[in-house]
Amino acid sequence: MTTFWSWYITLLSLGTIAALVWLLLATRKGQRSDSTEETVGHSYDGIEEYDNPLPRWWFLLFIATVIFALGYLALYPGLGNWKGVLPGYEDGWTQVKEWQREVDKANEQYGPLYAKFAAMPVEEVAQDPQALKMGGRLFASNCSVCHGSDAKGAYGFPNLTDDDWLWGGEPETIKTTIMGGRQAAMPAWRDVIGEEGIRNVAGYVRTLAGRDIPEGINVDLEQGQKLFAANCVACHGPEGKGTQAMGAPNLTDNVWLYGSSFAQIQQTLRYGRNGRMPAQEEILGNDKVHLLAAYVYSLSQKSEN
Ligand code: HEC
Ligand code: HEC
Repeated sequence: MTTFWSWYITLLSLGTIAALVWLLLATRKGQRSDSTEETVGHSYDGIEEYDNPLPRWWFLLFIATVIFALGYLALYPGLGNWKGVLPGYEDGWTQVKEWQREVDKANEQYGPLYAKFAAMPVEEVAQDPQALKMGGRLFASNCSVCHGSDAKGAYGFPNLTDDDWLWGGEPETIKTTIMGGRQAAMPAWRDVIGEEGIRNVAGYVRTLAGRDIPEGINVDLEQGQKLFAANCVACHGPEGKGTQAMGAPNLTDNVWLYGSSFAQIQQTLRYGRNGRMPAQEEILGNDKVHLLAAYVYSLSQKSEN
């Protein structure tokens, strides 16, 4: 800010405060000091006003606001180029600096704790109540938007508590998933096998999971099986049990990410599915992801008992 504008703002602000103080004192001077039954003489809608002095507490409140304003203007930047004299903010307070200070403080406080857990294997961290508490908090603020606060997932977002894994449930695999993210690629089949092919293979997929074909729908299961063998086994395996290296789900276990109804399965086949788990390495860093991996691992261990 140029010197001119700096002084312009400073004088305008301080001048206004000075003028208000003058107004307060000047009107007080002309007033009587005792209370009275006399009115000031005007009447609005039959309402009249006693000619009483401003109550003392009210006057003091005015003074207090002036003192607050001057204190505030002295401490914080705002008056032109004035940087304020708030302790610890020699070149001026800002929200960002205050936030950064709190982050630094938290890192100083928790850094050694994160480092301690990061040096332990995920499985071991998953036994530590303090680590799980920290992991649970990280999960609530970074993961629950998609996986739910109970980590049980939702349509398109996998349940992390059920020990049924798209990409693998080994402690280190879970960590790899969270660090680097995952991108699932289930191709679209409409243009490859046609509507009839989709109907037949969808029927076959239902039987893989032990489900029946809805009444009134004509499905050629033999053709469905052939189509499956030709097009699907590369990823889902010859028995449809999935391949974790590709995130291709087990189709026989009746755990469904995109729904099990005949219509939903056809939808999956027609247009494909591309679930994406966002990578956390750059956002959270290794140490926090390590705690999260332990937390997620502990959830699936619990469900086994
Ligand atoms: C290139 C590998 C690949 C091929 C080939 C493939 N899939 Fe998939 N499939 C996947 C992946 C990966 C997913 C998981 C998608 C996701 O998580 O978003 C998936 C998901 C599915 C689902 C959804 C499961 C659920 O839980 O909702 C069904 C059903 C399915 N595939 C059936 C088939 C059928 C039938 C074929 C053959 C016509 C086939 N897939 C071919 C990789 C493949
Ligand atoms: C923007 C939504 C989103 C957020 C945020 C998110 N995830 Fe995911 N996550 C997904 C999706 C979608 C998948 C499934 C990817 C697929 O279809 O293969 C997934 C998959 C996973 C898997 C693999 C599950 C399996 O069966 O193999 C783990 C583990 C996981 N997420 C943990 C986390 C953790 C921990 C966090 C918090 C740091 C998190 N996720 C944040 C969307 C999200």
